Amino acid sequence: MKTDFLIIGSGIAGLSLGLRLSEFGKVIIITKKKKAESNTNYAQGGIASVLDKEDNFDLHIKDTIECGAGLCNIKAVETIVKEGPSSIYELLALGVKFTKDEHGNLKLGREGGHSKNRIVHARDLTGKEIERVLLHKVSKNPKITVLEYHFAIELLTIRNIKPEYRKYFKDKHICYGAYTLNAKTGKVEKIIAGKTILATGGLGQVYLHTTNPAIATGDGFALGYRAGCELANMEFVQFHPTSLYQKDVDEETQVFLISEAVRGAGAILKDKKGKEFMHKYDKRKSLAPRDIVARAIDCELKKTGENFVYLDATVIGAERIKKEFPNIYQQCLNRGIDITKSMIPVVPAAHYSCGGLKVNIEGKTNIKNLYACGEVAMTGVHGANRLASNSLLEAVVFSKKIFESIKQEHSKNNKKNNKLNLDKIEKCIFNWSDKGTVNAEEWILIKHNKLEIKEIMSDYVGIVRSTYRLKRALRRIKMMKDEIKEFYDRTKVNVPLLELRNLVTVAYIIIKSAMKRKESRGLHYMLDYPERDDKNFKKDTIIYKRIKI
Ligand code: FAD
Ligand code: SIN
Repeated sequence: MKTDFLIIGSGIAGLSLGLRLSEFGKVIIITKKKKAESNTNYAQGGIASVLDKEDNFDLHIKDTIECGAGLCNIKAVETIVKEGPSSIYELLALGVKFTKDEHGNLKLGREGGHSKNRIVHARDLTGKEIERVLLHKVSKNPKITVLEYHFAIELLTIRNIKPEYRKYFKDKHICYGAYTLNAKTGKVEKIIAGKTILATGGLGQVYLHTTNPAIATGDGFALGYRAGCELANMEFVQFHPTSLYQKDVDEETQVFLISEAVRGAGAILKDKKGKEFMHKYDKRKSLAPRDIVARAIDCELKKTGENFVYLDATVIGAERIKKEFPNIYQQCLNRGIDITKSMIPVVPAAHYSCGGLKVNIEGKTNIKNLYACGEVAMTGVHGANRLASNSLLEAVVFSKKIFESIKQEHSKNNKKNNKLNLDKIEKCIFNWSDKGTVNAEEWILIKHNKLEIKEIMSDYVGIVRSTYRLKRALRRIKMMKDEIKEFYDRTKVNVPLLELRNLVTVAYIIIKSAMKRKESRGLHYMLDYPERDDKNFKKDTIIYKRIKI
């Protein structure tokens, strides 16, 4: 297959970019499962944007930067904040039905760390509504093809060019598309692309308790790493303070999120005896930024030896709960908890990666013709801790930045007529070698390995870390990485194996990044370096693989 644009991922970032890029050529969007299955589809709270008379850009910028604990890129923050309102109007124009008040104005919710009401939402199913509309628009666009159950295995770079042709390829760091496993046929296909965009979402599944669906195995981070991309700030994994407590989890569990908007509406965190505790940790109490609330809960649990704390939503009132949080109400009811009458048992769970493939303000990675947007990208917006509901906003704004950059390039290229010749490139790239065995007995190892990685990450690289714990984790993950590589090299590829390989790679990168940051900042809390060190460690943590050609 050949295409002008290959987009990997069908969440908010990939779909919104695909719609725009179709203006300039053929777009292929590949997605590893069904097209709606993404983190986007589960987003609850909403999209932050300055739309209230009482609010202004400076306040949203200030809240974002304060939350980011000194690591935000101010230009990137200003970009998302200032383009927030127009992005919301664009989504409305596409047909997204955001919740409105009795006067027909957008209803603005509140979440942790925000000084004003600015969360635009579609009741408590914001992501599902956005995904519905974007997928519908994409399905009507003849220039866009969506390939479900197509798993990106590896990016095509100079290493995949047959040696006899390499001398014709002057640029050594350039991307030509991806090898893709068609999970239905088991065949690996080459997709050659003028531009490739990683929009593969998050990595929550590297932890045992996560709000992310099973697809969030960090594939894009690992693909980029193996291709020689720079990754930044991977130590900053955000734990959402309030996921519904679930006793038993397996290697693919997604725990149910109780949106921060519920706390925004007045719900209060309490201990098992029904006593409030957040005042001991922050004056904003239950609505403090996520790193503070998650750490406070972690601390309470360690002190008391309990498995969960409570979120008391009864104070919101039954009528309002049912109207504003119908999904949360119903999901809890299905599990035997009537949240209008009883408190909700909650624990923190891995939720979001603030780090990712380092991109500039145009969404470009350090590899030519390779872009990244959405959760997999590190634009500098979130710094050491993401402000609630800034993620969907970042995804739409930065996918637009990529579009604008390509638009500019496109008009220049049209004049010079120096577009890549995809037919020639196709001939120079190796076909996938289908060698390898299939040994059914070993599949059980994949399941066990996945669980083991998640346990190691949760035990040693969670909310509270230390050099000792990180070293312990690194030793184990390194050993598993080698074993998995050896297994991968002699086995025919399939999705569980590819995900396992990516999970172990991402675990390795998170630990390496965490070991580099010898201070506590935002989401990265080290017992042996409990203070923030602005003198020595205010820069991004960069990890990359040296590529030998
Ligand atoms: P995703 O929406 O995750 O899409 C990634 C896509 O890439 C998927 O289609 C996936 O199948 C595909 N993919 C991945 N790997 C491969 C591969 N190897 N090959 C092919 N395809 C691949 N943020 C907010 O701002 N507001 C909220 O209210 C909010 N609520 C949230 C609630 C939950 C429960 C969760 C989990 C997250 C929430 N977030 C929220 C975060 C936000 O939803 C995500 O950061 C955002 O949706 C990411 O969008 P994305 O397009 O980058 O990735
Ligand atoms: C939530 O609804 O609490 C999630 C919001 C977010 O992740 O930004």
